[in-house]
Amino acid sequence: MLSGIQPTADSFHLGNYLGALRQWVRLQDTHETFYMVVDLHAITVEQDPKVLRQRTRVSAAQLLALGVDPDRSALFVQSHVPEHAQLSWVLECLTGFGEASRMTQFKDKAAKQGADRASVGLFTYPILQAADILLYQAHAVPVGEDQRQHLELSRNLAQRFNHRFGKTFVVPEPHIVKDTAKIYDLQDPTSKMSKSASSPNGLIELLEDPKRSAKKIRSAVTDTGREIVFDPEGKAGVSNLLSIYSALTGKSIEELENSYQDKGYGDLKKDLAEILVEFVTPFQERVKSYLDDISELDKVLARGAEQAREVATRTLAVVYDRVGFLPIG
Ligand code: TYM
Repeated sequence: MLSGIQPTADSFHLGNYLGALRQWVRLQDTHETFYMVVDLHAITVEQDPKVLRQRTRVSAAQLLALGVDPDRSALFVQSHVPEHAQLSWVLECLTGFGEASRMTQFKDKAAKQGADRASVGLFTYPILQAADILLYQAHAVPVGEDQRQHLELSRNLAQRFNHRFGKTFVVPEPHIVKDTAKIYDLQDPTSKMSKSASSPNGLIELLEDPKRSAKKIRSAVTDTGREIVFDPEGKAGVSNLLSIYSALTGKSIEELENSYQDKGYGDLKKDLAEILVEFVTPFQERVKSYLDDISELDKVLARGAEQAREVATRTLAVVYDRVGFLPIG
């Protein structure tokens, strides 16, 4: 199992956690796991160097605080393992220009920046992501729904390389958990929760003041009806709150529908706000304690990079040989 997250915000958000990171933690029980903070991906859009360095550490601290266990997972920073960029180049040479042009995340992000201003790195972003995955021979990749197309490209590139040069890569499967594959914006429950949301009130940041999160939940957009039922088409807002509630408590949607049968939206929101505060408060304390000892945190990341490199160098050596590069003397 391998996955990554970008250090491009001051905090992870609830969509990151429920859609992906919770699965990262669980999969440690059953799989060999590689998890990374993808700083190479982050610089595909402009970053302030000081802020990027800080956010990379805060990202690692959040992963540890959520339960990524460095004794069971290789937890590392992408730029510490140079083989990612090296494999990416080889895969870029196997990717069609048209194929890369069809990536919807690129099209959306480039449109926001003005197509001419988007970097070439933003264009090749999904190929670097394929390199991330294929380097570790990952069988599955825990992500949210928005990464499905990138995963499809990784699969195609693995198959293409294997076909052309002989079996080299495992063809990875997306590991997307249906109930939480897409957490929606609280103010606009037909769009996904995202750090680039139009209103900050639609986004729950795990490191923001818990009182603020509670307020956002209490003022989440719901419809004019009264019934608390799961109906993503007709009742997008309420359904999103039910999904979040269910994921945070382990109670099934059906159970929740039953227990809120005679209650109103206000009750649901009030209870969910409390549940969220109970979750984020101790989480924030753990993050703080990891950040209080940066030298220890950096050591954990160095150890993770070493473990990752052991695997990455092996794969890259095979790839270089297969494509016909001359070995060093
Ligand atoms: P990133 O940093 O945007 O997001 C991290 C993870 O959070 C998931 N996610 C969501 N899930 C459910 N609902 C939402 N509203 C929501 N918003 C975000 C994302 O699907 C993702 O799993 N390209 C990746 C980073 C990456 C990567 C990789 C992932 C780089 N290399 C290799 C897997 C394997 C990204 O931008 O994620």
